[in-house]
Amino acid sequence: MTHHDRLLIVDFGSQVTQLIARRLRELKVYCEIHPFQNVTDAFLQEFSPKAVIFSGGPSSVFADGAPMPPESVFDLGVPILGICYGQQVMMHCLGGKVERGHGTAEFGRAYVVPKTGTIALLNGWFDDGREQVWMSHGDHVSEIAPGFEVYGTSPNAPFAITADVARNFYAVQFHPEVHHTPNGKTLYENFVKLAGFSGDWTMGAYRDDAIAKIREQVGDKKVICGLSGGVDSSVAAVLIHEAIGDQLTCVFVDHGLLRLNEAQEVVSMFRDHYNIPLIHADEAELFLGALEGISDPETKRKTIGKLFIDVFQKHAHEIDGAEFLAQGTLYPDVIESVSFSGGPSVTIKSHHNVGGLPEKMGLKLVEPLRELFKDEVRALGRELGLPESFIARHPFPGPGLAIRCPGEITRDKLEILRKADAVYIDQIRKHGLYDEIWQAFVAILPVRTVGVMGDGRTYDYACALRAVTSVDGMTADYYPFSHEFLGETATRIINEVQGINRVTYDITSKPPGTIEWE
Ligand code: XMP
Repeated sequence: MTHHDRLLIVDFGSQVTQLIARRLRELKVYCEIHPFQNVTDAFLQEFSPKAVIFSGGPSSVFADGAPMPPESVFDLGVPILGICYGQQVMMHCLGGKVERGHGTAEFGRAYVVPKTGTIALLNGWFDDGREQVWMSHGDHVSEIAPGFEVYGTSPNAPFAITADVARNFYAVQFHPEVHHTPNGKTLYENFVKLAGFSGDWTMGAYRDDAIAKIREQVGDKKVICGLSGGVDSSVAAVLIHEAIGDQLTCVFVDHGLLRLNEAQEVVSMFRDHYNIPLIHADEAELFLGALEGISDPETKRKTIGKLFIDVFQKHAHEIDGAEFLAQGTLYPDVIESVSFSGGPSVTIKSHHNVGGLPEKMGLKLVEPLRELFKDEVRALGRELGLPESFIARHPFPGPGLAIRCPGEITRDKLEILRKADAVYIDQIRKHGLYDEIWQAFVAILPVRTVGVMGDGRTYDYACALRAVTSVDGMTADYYPFSHEFLGETATRIINEVQGINRVTYDITSKPPGTIEWE
Protein backbone atom coordinates (compact mmCIF):
# COMPACT_ATOMS: atom_id res chain seq x y z
CA MET A 1 0.00 0.00 0.00
CA THR A 2 1.37 3.39 -0.87
CA HIS A 3 0.91 5.82 1.95
CA HIS A 4 3.06 8.75 0.97
CA ASP A 5 3.29 10.09 4.50
CA ARG A 6 4.48 7.39 6.86
CA LEU A 7 5.77 7.70 10.35
CA LEU A 8 8.05 4.99 11.71
CA ILE A 9 7.88 3.97 15.37
CA VAL A 10 11.01 2.07 16.35
CA ASP A 11 9.98 -0.28 19.15
CA PHE A 12 12.45 -0.77 21.95
CA GLY A 13 10.01 -2.96 23.86
CA SER A 14 7.94 -0.60 25.95
CA GLN A 15 4.63 -1.92 27.23
CA VAL A 16 2.94 1.17 25.85
CA THR A 17 4.40 1.40 22.34
CA GLN A 18 1.01 0.57 20.86
CA LEU A 19 -0.42 3.63 22.54
CA ILE A 20 1.95 5.84 20.55
CA ALA A 21 0.43 4.37 17.40
CA ARG A 22 -3.06 4.95 18.78
CA ARG A 23 -2.37 8.62 19.46
CA LEU A 24 -0.94 9.08 15.97
CA ARG A 25 -3.77 7.29 14.24
CA GLU A 26 -6.20 9.53 16.14
CA LEU A 27 -4.36 12.42 14.53
CA LYS A 28 -4.98 10.75 11.14
CA VAL A 29 -1.30 10.02 10.65
CA TYR A 30 -0.32 6.68 9.16
CA CYS A 31 2.36 4.96 11.24
CA GLU A 32 3.86 1.53 11.68
CA ILE A 33 5.61 -0.03 14.66
CA HIS A 34 8.72 -2.05 13.90
CA PRO A 35 10.99 -3.77 16.42
CA PHE A 36 14.42 -2.18 16.50
CA GLN A 37 16.15 -5.32 15.17
CA ASN A 38 14.25 -5.05 11.91
CA VAL A 39 15.14 -1.40 11.41
CA THR A 40 18.26 -1.65 9.28
CA ASP A 41 19.77 0.84 6.85
CA ALA A 42 18.03 -0.93 3.97
CA PHE A 43 14.75 -0.94 5.85
CA LEU A 44 14.96 2.81 6.42
CA GLN A 45 15.59 3.42 2.73
CA GLU A 46 12.67 1.28 1.76
CA PHE A 47 10.26 2.60 4.39
CA SER A 48 11.27 6.20 3.80
CA PRO A 49 9.60 7.70 6.88
CA LYS A 50 8.58 11.31 7.07
CA ALA A 51 9.34 11.24 10.80
CA VAL A 52 10.60 8.72 13.35
CA ILE A 53 9.67 8.05 16.97
CA PHE A 54 11.84 5.98 19.31
CA SER A 55 9.67 4.20 21.87
CA GLY A 56 10.53 3.61 25.48
CA GLY A 57 11.84 0.26 26.57
CA PRO A 58 12.97 -1.80 29.55
CA SER A 59 16.66 -1.95 28.60
CA SER A 60 19.66 0.06 29.62
CA VAL A 61 22.01 1.60 27.07
CA PHE A 62 24.76 0.04 29.22
CA ALA A 63 23.52 -3.49 28.71
CA ASP A 64 25.38 -5.87 26.41
CA GLY A 65 23.77 -5.67 23.01
CA ALA A 66 21.61 -2.77 24.15
CA PRO A 67 18.81 -2.07 21.66
CA MET A 68 19.98 0.66 19.26
CA PRO A 69 18.77 2.07 15.96
CA PRO A 70 21.14 2.20 12.96
CA GLU A 71 23.13 5.43 12.97
CA SER A 72 21.84 6.28 9.52
CA VAL A 73 18.49 7.16 11.08
CA PHE A 74 20.02 10.44 12.23
CA ASP A 75 21.06 11.27 8.65
CA LEU A 76 17.60 10.87 7.13
CA GLY A 77 16.96 14.58 7.63
CA VAL A 78 13.55 13.89 9.18
CA PRO A 79 12.23 14.88 12.63
CA ILE A 80 12.90 12.36 15.39
CA LEU A 81 11.19 12.13 18.77
CA GLY A 82 12.74 9.97 21.48
CA ILE A 83 10.65 8.87 24.43
CA CYS A 84 12.14 7.72 27.75
CA TYR A 85 14.58 4.95 26.71
CA GLY A 86 14.32 6.54 23.26
CA GLN A 87 15.66 9.76 24.76
CA GLN A 88 18.61 7.91 26.30
CA VAL A 89 19.32 6.26 22.96
CA MET A 90 19.39 9.64 21.24
CA MET A 91 21.72 11.14 23.82
CA HIS A 92 23.95 8.08 23.78
CA CYS A 93 24.21 8.09 19.98
CA LEU A 94 24.56 11.84 19.54
CA GLY A 95 27.28 12.54 22.11
CA GLY A 96 25.45 13.10 25.39
CA LYS A 97 25.75 11.06 28.58
CA VAL A 98 23.44 8.61 30.28
CA GLU A 99 23.89 7.52 33.89
CA ARG A 100 22.82 4.33 35.48
CA GLY A 101 19.93 4.61 37.86
CA HIS A 102 21.30 3.53 41.25
CA GLY A 103 18.14 1.97 42.49
CA THR A 104 16.43 5.32 42.12
CA ALA A 105 14.08 4.52 39.31
CA GLU A 106 11.51 7.25 38.92
CA PHE A 107 8.05 5.96 38.39
CA GLY A 108 4.77 7.77 38.29
CA ARG A 109 3.34 11.24 38.15
CA ALA A 110 5.60 14.29 37.90
CA TYR A 111 5.17 17.95 37.01
CA VAL A 112 7.26 19.59 34.31
CA VAL A 113 7.82 23.33 34.09
CA PRO A 114 9.17 25.24 31.07
CA LYS A 115 12.78 26.33 30.63
CA THR A 116 14.73 28.31 28.03
CA GLY A 117 11.87 29.39 25.74
CA THR A 118 9.07 28.14 23.56
CA ILE A 119 9.39 25.78 20.63
CA ALA A 120 6.83 24.49 18.17
CA LEU A 121 6.78 21.08 19.90
CA LEU A 122 5.39 22.76 23.01
CA ASN A 123 2.56 24.84 21.51
CA GLY A 124 -0.37 24.61 23.88
CA TRP A 125 1.83 23.36 26.69
CA PHE A 126 2.41 25.14 30.00
CA ASP A 127 -0.64 27.37 29.57
CA ASP A 128 -1.22 26.85 33.29
CA GLY A 129 2.46 27.06 34.16
CA ARG A 130 3.17 23.33 34.43
CA GLU A 131 2.15 20.01 32.91
CA GLN A 132 1.48 16.68 34.56
CA VAL A 133 3.49 13.88 32.95
CA TRP A 134 4.08 10.17 33.52
CA MET A 135 7.65 9.09 34.20
CA SER A 136 8.88 5.54 34.17
CA HIS A 137 12.60 5.00 33.88
CA GLY A 138 15.68 3.62 35.62
CA ASP A 139 18.70 5.24 33.95
CA HIS A 140 18.67 8.93 33.16
CA VAL A 141 20.40 11.45 30.95
CA SER A 142 23.16 13.29 32.80
CA GLU A 143 24.51 15.40 29.97
CA ILE A 144 22.64 16.37 26.84
CA ALA A 145 24.17 15.95 23.40
CA PRO A 146 25.76 18.90 21.59
CA GLY A 147 23.16 21.01 19.81
CA PHE A 148 20.42 20.16 22.33
CA GLU A 149 18.78 22.59 24.76
CA VAL A 150 16.53 21.92 27.74
CA TYR A 151 12.94 23.13 27.37
CA GLY A 152 11.30 21.52 30.36
CA THR A 153 12.37 20.21 33.76
CA SER A 154 10.90 18.51 36.78
CA PRO A 155 12.38 18.21 40.28
CA ASN A 156 13.81 14.76 39.52
CA ALA A 157 14.28 15.17 35.78
CA PRO A 158 16.43 18.14 34.83
CA PHE A 159 16.28 17.01 31.19
CA ALA A 160 12.58 16.22 30.98
CA ILE A 161 12.18 17.93 27.58
CA THR A 162 15.17 18.47 25.30
CA ALA A 163 15.47 19.46 21.67
CA ASP A 164 17.91 20.25 18.92
CA VAL A 165 15.52 22.48 17.01
CA ALA A 166 17.88 23.02 14.07
CA ARG A 167 17.95 19.30 13.32
CA ASN A 168 14.36 18.71 14.45
CA PHE A 169 15.45 16.19 17.09
CA TYR A 170 13.29 16.03 20.21
CA ALA A 171 13.73 13.86 23.27
CA VAL A 172 11.55 13.62 26.35
CA GLN A 173 12.02 11.64 29.51
CA PHE A 174 8.34 10.91 30.13
CA HIS A 175 5.60 9.09 28.22
CA PRO A 176 3.32 11.53 26.39
CA GLU A 177 1.23 8.65 24.97
CA VAL A 178 -0.29 7.52 28.25
CA HIS A 179 -3.46 8.73 29.85
CA HIS A 180 -1.50 10.03 32.87
CA THR A 181 0.13 12.67 30.67
CA PRO A 182 -3.17 14.48 30.06
CA ASN A 183 -1.81 16.96 27.50
CA GLY A 184 0.38 14.37 25.75
CA LYS A 185 -1.70 14.27 22.61
CA THR A 186 -0.92 17.95 21.98
CA LEU A 187 2.76 17.10 21.99
CA TYR A 188 2.24 14.45 19.32
CA GLU A 189 0.03 16.82 17.38
CA ASN A 190 2.78 19.44 17.38
CA PHE A 191 5.38 16.85 16.40
CA VAL A 192 3.46 15.58 13.38
CA LYS A 193 2.61 19.12 12.34
CA LEU A 194 6.23 20.22 12.38
CA ALA A 195 7.09 17.06 10.44
CA GLY A 196 4.64 18.18 7.74
CA PHE A 197 1.95 15.50 8.05
CA SER A 198 -1.36 16.64 6.65
CA GLY A 199 -3.57 14.22 8.61
CA ASP A 200 -4.89 12.49 5.49
CA TRP A 201 -5.17 9.00 6.99
CA THR A 202 -8.96 8.68 6.83
CA MET A 203 -11.13 5.60 6.57
CA GLY A 204 -12.37 6.70 3.16
CA ALA A 205 -8.77 6.81 1.93
CA TYR A 206 -8.00 3.49 3.59
CA ARG A 207 -10.99 1.82 1.99
CA ASP A 208 -10.02 2.99 -1.51
CA ASP A 209 -6.39 1.94 -1.02
CA ALA A 210 -7.40 -1.42 0.43
CA ILE A 211 -9.76 -2.15 -2.46
CA ALA A 212 -7.06 -1.32 -5.00
CA LYS A 213 -4.59 -3.52 -3.15
CA ILE A 214 -6.97 -6.50 -2.96
CA ARG A 215 -7.66 -6.23 -6.71
CA GLU A 216 -3.97 -6.12 -7.44
CA GLN A 217 -3.18 -9.08 -5.18
CA VAL A 218 -6.03 -11.32 -6.22
CA GLY A 219 -6.39 -10.53 -9.92
CA ASP A 220 -9.11 -12.76 -11.37
CA LYS A 221 -8.60 -15.59 -8.85
CA LYS A 222 -11.07 -16.81 -6.24
CA VAL A 223 -11.02 -16.05 -2.53
CA ILE A 224 -12.54 -17.94 0.39
CA CYS A 225 -13.38 -16.09 3.58
CA GLY A 226 -14.22 -17.79 6.85
CA LEU A 227 -17.06 -15.84 8.36
CA SER A 228 -17.60 -16.07 12.11
CA GLY A 229 -20.30 -13.44 12.48
CA GLY A 230 -17.85 -11.26 14.41
CA VAL A 231 -16.96 -7.73 13.39
CA ASP A 232 -13.49 -8.44 11.96
CA SER A 233 -14.33 -11.21 9.54
CA SER A 234 -17.54 -9.43 8.52
CA VAL A 235 -15.77 -6.18 7.69
CA ALA A 236 -13.08 -8.10 5.82
CA ALA A 237 -15.73 -9.96 3.81
CA VAL A 238 -17.69 -6.85 2.83
CA LEU A 239 -14.51 -5.00 1.89
CA ILE A 240 -13.24 -7.87 -0.25
CA HIS A 241 -16.65 -8.24 -1.85
CA GLU A 242 -16.54 -4.56 -2.83
CA ALA A 243 -13.18 -5.16 -4.39
CA ILE A 244 -13.76 -8.39 -6.30
CA GLY A 245 -17.49 -9.14 -6.16
CA ASP A 246 -18.43 -12.77 -6.70
CA GLN A 247 -14.85 -13.98 -6.87
CA LEU A 248 -15.38 -14.13 -3.09
CA THR A 249 -17.24 -16.95 -1.38
CA CYS A 250 -17.76 -16.94 2.37
CA VAL A 251 -17.84 -20.09 4.44
CA PHE A 252 -19.76 -19.80 7.67
CA VAL A 253 -19.12 -22.75 9.95
CA ASP A 254 -22.03 -23.07 12.35
CA HIS A 255 -20.68 -25.20 15.17
CA GLY A 256 -23.92 -25.21 17.10
CA LEU A 257 -22.35 -23.06 19.79
CA LEU A 258 -23.74 -19.74 18.63
CA ARG A 259 -26.17 -17.47 20.42
CA LEU A 260 -29.91 -17.32 19.92
CA ASN A 261 -30.80 -16.61 16.25
CA GLU A 262 -27.18 -15.75 15.48
CA ALA A 263 -26.73 -18.14 12.58
CA GLN A 264 -29.87 -16.93 10.80
CA GLU A 265 -28.84 -13.31 11.31
CA VAL A 266 -25.41 -13.89 9.78
CA VAL A 267 -26.80 -15.81 6.83
CA SER A 268 -29.53 -13.33 6.07
CA MET A 269 -27.26 -10.35 6.37
CA PHE A 270 -24.53 -11.65 4.07
CA ARG A 271 -26.48 -13.73 1.63
CA ASP A 272 -29.67 -11.66 1.36
CA HIS A 273 -28.58 -8.17 2.20
CA TYR A 274 -25.10 -8.06 0.71
CA ASN A 275 -25.59 -10.74 -1.95
CA ILE A 276 -22.30 -12.36 -1.01
CA PRO A 277 -22.06 -16.02 -2.06
CA LEU A 278 -22.18 -17.91 1.21
CA ILE A 279 -21.87 -21.54 2.21
CA HIS A 280 -23.70 -22.11 5.48
CA ALA A 281 -22.07 -25.21 6.92
CA ASP A 282 -24.50 -26.40 9.56
CA GLU A 283 -22.26 -28.77 11.47
CA ALA A 284 -23.83 -28.53 14.91
CA GLU A 285 -24.36 -32.28 15.20
CA LEU A 286 -20.75 -33.01 14.37
CA PHE A 287 -19.34 -30.55 16.90
CA LEU A 288 -21.76 -31.37 19.70
CA GLY A 289 -21.16 -35.07 19.13
CA ALA A 290 -17.41 -34.61 19.39
CA LEU A 291 -17.79 -32.57 22.55
CA GLU A 292 -19.90 -35.16 24.33
CA GLY A 293 -18.43 -36.16 27.66
CA ILE A 294 -15.64 -33.56 27.54
CA SER A 295 -15.44 -31.20 30.47
CA ASP A 296 -11.78 -30.13 30.48
CA PRO A 297 -11.58 -26.55 29.08
CA GLU A 298 -8.40 -27.04 27.04
CA THR A 299 -9.67 -30.29 25.54
CA LYS A 300 -12.87 -28.51 24.55
CA ARG A 301 -10.96 -25.74 22.84
CA LYS A 302 -8.63 -28.11 21.03
CA THR A 303 -11.50 -30.34 19.91
CA ILE A 304 -13.38 -27.38 18.48
CA GLY A 305 -10.26 -25.87 16.87
CA LYS A 306 -9.32 -29.10 15.13
CA LEU A 307 -12.82 -29.89 13.89
CA PHE A 308 -13.21 -26.35 12.69
CA ILE A 309 -10.21 -26.70 10.44
CA ASP A 310 -11.43 -30.04 9.07
CA VAL A 311 -14.91 -28.73 8.38
CA PHE A 312 -13.71 -25.50 6.89
CA GLN A 313 -11.39 -27.39 4.62
CA LYS A 314 -14.14 -29.75 3.50
CA HIS A 315 -16.42 -26.90 2.48
CA ALA A 316 -13.65 -24.80 1.01
CA HIS A 317 -12.93 -27.66 -1.38
CA GLU A 318 -16.43 -27.17 -2.78
CA ILE A 319 -15.20 -23.90 -4.24
CA ASP A 320 -13.32 -24.70 -7.41
CA GLY A 321 -9.96 -23.14 -7.96
CA ALA A 322 -9.77 -20.89 -4.91
CA GLU A 323 -6.24 -19.62 -4.38
CA PHE A 324 -6.68 -17.20 -1.50
CA LEU A 325 -7.93 -17.35 2.04
CA ALA A 326 -9.15 -14.10 3.60
CA GLN A 327 -8.65 -13.48 7.30
CA GLY A 328 -9.64 -10.62 9.57
CA THR A 329 -6.19 -10.38 11.17
CA LEU A 330 -5.78 -7.06 13.01
CA TYR A 331 -2.72 -4.93 13.63
CA PRO A 332 -2.32 -5.90 17.31
CA ASP A 333 -2.11 -9.57 16.21
CA VAL A 334 0.62 -8.64 13.79
CA ILE A 335 2.73 -6.63 16.19
CA GLU A 336 2.42 -9.10 18.99
CA SER A 337 3.87 -11.76 16.76
CA VAL A 338 7.03 -9.77 15.98
CA SER A 339 7.44 -7.96 19.29
CA PHE A 340 11.02 -8.23 20.40
CA SER A 341 9.97 -9.08 23.91
CA GLY A 342 8.43 -12.16 22.35
CA GLY A 343 4.92 -11.74 23.71
CA PRO A 344 3.50 -13.78 26.55
CA SER A 345 5.53 -16.88 27.24
CA VAL A 346 2.79 -18.86 28.90
CA THR A 347 -0.32 -20.11 27.17
CA ILE A 348 -3.14 -19.07 29.43
CA LYS A 349 -5.79 -20.40 27.06
CA SER A 350 -5.23 -21.73 23.61
CA HIS A 351 -7.15 -19.39 21.36
CA HIS A 352 -9.38 -20.87 18.78
CA ASN A 353 -8.25 -19.71 15.37
CA VAL A 354 -7.55 -21.12 11.96
CA GLY A 355 -3.77 -21.05 12.35
CA GLY A 356 -2.10 -23.51 10.03
CA LEU A 357 -5.02 -23.57 7.60
CA PRO A 358 -3.41 -21.61 4.76
CA GLU A 359 -0.37 -23.92 4.70
CA LYS A 360 -2.51 -27.03 4.96
CA MET A 361 -4.69 -25.98 2.07
CA GLY A 362 -1.94 -24.36 0.02
CA LEU A 363 -3.74 -21.03 0.04
CA LYS A 364 -2.27 -17.56 0.02
CA LEU A 365 -3.54 -15.07 2.58
CA VAL A 366 -5.54 -11.90 2.00
CA GLU A 367 -5.54 -9.84 5.18
CA PRO A 368 -6.97 -6.42 4.43
CA LEU A 369 -7.28 -5.37 8.09
CA ARG A 370 -3.67 -6.04 9.03
CA GLU A 371 -2.97 -2.36 9.52
CA LEU A 372 -5.97 -1.56 11.66
CA PHE A 373 -6.83 -1.45 15.34
CA LYS A 374 -10.20 -2.75 16.50
CA ASP A 375 -11.88 0.64 16.64
CA GLU A 376 -10.52 1.44 13.19
CA VAL A 377 -12.09 -1.77 11.89
CA ARG A 378 -15.37 -0.54 13.30
CA ALA A 379 -14.87 2.83 11.57
CA LEU A 380 -14.16 1.00 8.31
CA GLY A 381 -17.30 -1.09 8.81
CA ARG A 382 -19.33 2.12 9.13
CA GLU A 383 -17.65 3.46 6.00
CA LEU A 384 -18.78 0.27 4.24
CA GLY A 385 -22.34 0.74 5.45
CA LEU A 386 -22.54 -2.19 7.87
CA PRO A 387 -25.39 -1.61 10.35
CA GLU A 388 -24.39 0.05 13.61
CA SER A 389 -26.06 -2.70 15.64
CA PHE A 390 -23.68 -5.14 14.02
CA ILE A 391 -20.53 -3.05 14.23
CA ALA A 392 -20.92 -2.25 17.91
CA ARG A 393 -21.44 -5.88 18.88
CA HIS A 394 -19.52 -7.21 21.85
CA PRO A 395 -16.69 -9.62 20.99
CA PHE A 396 -17.69 -13.28 20.84
CA PRO A 397 -15.07 -16.01 21.18
CA GLY A 398 -14.38 -18.56 18.45
CA PRO A 399 -15.34 -21.58 20.64
CA GLY A 400 -18.63 -19.81 21.32
CA LEU A 401 -20.92 -20.96 24.09
CA ALA A 402 -18.71 -23.99 24.77
CA ILE A 403 -16.51 -21.87 27.05
CA ARG A 404 -19.54 -20.38 28.80
CA CYS A 405 -20.78 -23.79 29.79
CA PRO A 406 -18.25 -25.09 32.35
CA GLY A 407 -18.30 -28.86 32.67
CA GLU A 408 -19.92 -31.11 30.12
CA ILE A 409 -21.81 -29.47 27.28
CA THR A 410 -25.27 -30.78 26.57
CA ARG A 411 -27.91 -29.60 24.13
CA ASP A 412 -30.28 -28.86 27.03
CA LYS A 413 -27.77 -26.67 28.78
CA LEU A 414 -26.99 -24.82 25.56
CA GLU A 415 -30.64 -24.11 24.98
CA ILE A 416 -31.11 -22.76 28.50
CA LEU A 417 -27.94 -20.71 28.16
CA ARG A 418 -29.09 -19.17 24.85
CA LYS A 419 -32.38 -18.07 26.34
CA ALA A 420 -30.84 -16.64 29.49
CA ASP A 421 -28.21 -14.80 27.49
CA ALA A 422 -30.84 -13.27 25.23
CA VAL A 423 -32.83 -11.98 28.23
CA TYR A 424 -29.68 -10.56 29.83
CA ILE A 425 -28.57 -8.74 26.68
CA ASP A 426 -32.09 -7.46 26.16
CA GLN A 427 -32.02 -6.02 29.69
CA ILE A 428 -28.67 -4.37 29.04
CA ARG A 429 -29.91 -2.83 25.81
CA LYS A 430 -33.16 -1.66 27.38
CA HIS A 431 -31.23 0.12 30.11
CA GLY A 432 -28.99 1.79 27.51
CA LEU A 433 -25.84 0.13 28.87
CA TYR A 434 -24.74 -1.99 25.92
CA ASP A 435 -22.19 0.44 24.51
CA GLU A 436 -20.61 1.14 27.89
CA ILE A 437 -19.80 -2.52 28.33
CA TRP A 438 -16.95 -4.30 26.55
CA GLN A 439 -18.58 -7.71 26.80
CA ALA A 440 -21.53 -9.23 28.61
CA PHE A 441 -22.82 -12.78 28.67
CA VAL A 442 -24.30 -15.51 30.79
CA ALA A 443 -22.40 -18.62 31.87
CA ILE A 444 -24.47 -21.64 32.86
CA LEU A 445 -23.00 -23.33 35.92
CA PRO A 446 -22.58 -27.08 36.26
CA VAL A 447 -24.63 -27.18 39.46
CA ARG A 448 -28.29 -27.46 40.19
CA THR A 449 -29.73 -25.69 43.17
CA VAL A 450 -32.97 -25.90 45.06
CA GLY A 451 -35.55 -23.17 44.72
CA VAL A 452 -39.20 -22.54 45.25
CA MET A 453 -41.56 -21.27 42.60
CA GLY A 454 -45.27 -20.92 43.23
CA ASP A 455 -46.09 -23.79 45.52
CA GLY A 456 -43.47 -26.12 44.16
CA ARG A 457 -39.88 -26.95 44.80
CA THR A 458 -37.51 -26.53 41.85
CA TYR A 459 -34.15 -28.14 41.24
CA ASP A 460 -32.58 -26.26 38.33
CA TYR A 461 -29.33 -24.78 37.10
CA ALA A 462 -27.64 -21.72 38.52
CA CYS A 463 -26.13 -19.20 36.13
CA ALA A 464 -23.63 -16.38 36.41
CA LEU A 465 -23.93 -13.02 34.70
CA ARG A 466 -20.70 -11.50 33.46
CA ALA A 467 -20.18 -7.92 32.27
CA VAL A 468 -16.84 -6.16 32.00
CA THR A 469 -15.32 -2.93 30.84
CA SER A 470 -12.02 -3.15 29.04
CA VAL A 471 -9.90 -1.34 26.48
CA ASP A 472 -8.47 -4.32 24.67
CA GLY A 473 -9.60 -7.44 26.48
CA MET A 474 -6.17 -7.85 28.10
CA THR A 475 -7.33 -6.47 31.42
CA ALA A 476 -10.90 -5.90 32.55
CA ASP A 477 -13.04 -4.63 35.41
CA TYR A 478 -16.46 -5.94 36.27
CA TYR A 479 -19.25 -3.57 35.36
CA PRO A 480 -20.86 -1.85 38.38
CA PHE A 481 -24.54 -2.52 37.67
CA SER A 482 -27.04 -1.05 40.10
CA HIS A 483 -28.74 -3.42 42.53
CA GLU A 484 -32.05 -2.59 40.88
CA PHE A 485 -30.73 -3.68 37.49
CA LEU A 486 -29.34 -6.92 38.87
CA GLY A 487 -32.51 -7.69 40.78
CA GLU A 488 -34.74 -7.00 37.80
CA THR A 489 -32.55 -9.09 35.50
CA ALA A 490 -32.43 -12.04 37.89
CA THR A 491 -36.21 -11.98 38.18
CA ARG A 492 -36.69 -11.87 34.42
CA ILE A 493 -34.25 -14.73 33.78
CA ILE A 494 -35.85 -16.97 36.40
CA ASN A 495 -39.36 -16.16 35.20
CA GLU A 496 -38.66 -16.38 31.48
CA VAL A 497 -36.11 -19.19 31.25
CA GLN A 498 -37.20 -22.61 32.28
CA GLY A 499 -34.28 -24.52 33.76
CA ILE A 500 -32.66 -21.70 35.77
CA ASN A 501 -33.66 -20.92 39.31
CA ARG A 502 -30.67 -18.99 40.63
CA VAL A 503 -28.71 -16.05 39.25
CA THR A 504 -25.35 -14.78 40.48
CA TYR A 505 -23.22 -11.83 39.36
CA ASP A 506 -19.50 -12.39 38.71
CA ILE A 507 -17.48 -9.52 40.19
CA THR A 508 -14.01 -10.81 39.31
CA SER A 509 -11.66 -8.49 37.49
CA LYS A 510 -9.04 -9.63 34.98
CA PRO A 511 -6.49 -10.42 36.26
CA PRO A 512 -6.90 -12.55 38.32
CA GLY A 513 -9.95 -13.86 36.46
CA THR A 514 -10.31 -14.11 32.71
CA ILE A 515 -13.27 -12.63 30.91
CA GLU A 516 -14.66 -15.96 29.75
CA TRP A 517 -15.26 -18.71 32.26
CA GLU A 518 -13.03 -21.21 30.52
P1 XMP B 1 -10.21 -14.08 28.23
O1 XMP B 1 -11.33 -15.00 28.58
O2 XMP B 1 -8.95 -14.81 27.89
O3 XMP B 1 -10.68 -13.39 26.87
O4 XMP B 1 -10.02 -13.00 29.23
C1 XMP B 1 -10.19 -12.18 26.34
C2 XMP B 1 -11.01 -11.85 25.12
O5 XMP B 1 -10.76 -12.83 24.10
C3 XMP B 1 -11.96 -13.50 23.78
N1 XMP B 1 -11.59 -14.91 23.61
C4 XMP B 1 -11.47 -15.50 22.42
N2 XMP B 1 -11.66 -15.03 21.18
N3 XMP B 1 -11.11 -17.15 20.31
C5 XMP B 1 -11.51 -15.88 20.12
O6 XMP B 1 -11.71 -15.47 18.97
C6 XMP B 1 -10.90 -17.68 21.53
O7 XMP B 1 -10.55 -18.85 21.67
C7 XMP B 1 -11.09 -16.81 22.64
N4 XMP B 1 -10.99 -16.99 23.98
C8 XMP B 1 -11.30 -15.81 24.55
C9 XMP B 1 -12.89 -13.27 24.95
O8 XMP B 1 -14.25 -13.38 24.56
C10 XMP B 1 -12.51 -11.88 25.36
O9 XMP B 1 -13.10 -10.90 24.51
